[in-house]
Amino acid sequence: MGKLAIIYHSAHGHTEHIAQQIRSGAEQIDGIEVHLLKAEDLALAPDALVEFDGFILGSPTYLGGVSGPFKTFMDATGRLWRTQQLRGRLAAGFTVSSLPSGDKQSTLLSMFVFCMQHGMLWAGNPILPEQHNGVPYEEAANRLGSWSGLMAQAGHASPVDSFAPGDVKTARMFGRNFALNLQRLCAPIEA
Ligand SMILES: Cc1cc2nc3c(=O)[nH]c(=O)nc-3n(C[C@H](O)[C@H](O)[C@H](O)COP(=O)(O)O)c2cc1C
Repeated sequence: MGKLAIIYHSAHGHTEHIAQQIRSGAEQIDGIEVHLLKAEDLALAPDALVEFDGFILGSPTYLGGVSGPFKTFMDATGRLWRTQQLRGRLAAGFTVSSLPSGDKQSTLLSMFVFCMQHGMLWAGNPILPEQHNGVPYEEAANRLGSWSGLMAQAGHASPVDSFAPGDVKTARMFGRNFALNLQRLCAPIEA
């Protein structure tokens, strides 16, 4: 059994909605226990991270980076960094913002560097953009073309109505792919 924590901040529910889609994809894989956790709660109890085998980090993009509450969570892990207690864990990142680019890449990069400083292993988003194979753009998996992590573009409607179907599909595929990798990493080694 591998334990996966999806850790996110969401002020208005859009990042949370994508986190829920990632969870539903990850739950398709046997042997992976999935927990959806708020970054604000973990900032107060960062030692809880040590019980997990994998992390998927999620933040809205604010001014080209992670949100303040998400950065507070990251900074709360300083003691775990000093003792390298999270070394070897599998990690990935996702971000939601309102513009097609909106500098989301910069948010993913700060998550990547954070995970590298902790000695984690980074998993990307290995999904080919489906619009290249004739799928309509709004319905295409990885339509935003991000391989370093998951990107989703939110409109200004309620979280459920804000996303292109392609972004929801991508989030589920991303969660499933991550959980498959975690299942492999947690598999017992044959003698
Ligand atoms: C302070 C602030 C800064 C933002 N900066 C960006 C940005 O750099 N790029 C972008 O595309 N959207 C930006 N947005 C829009 C948010 O990323 C977007 O509304 C997102 O869906 C919020 O996620 P949430 O509903 O989970 O809180 C910004 C919003 C706020 C409040």
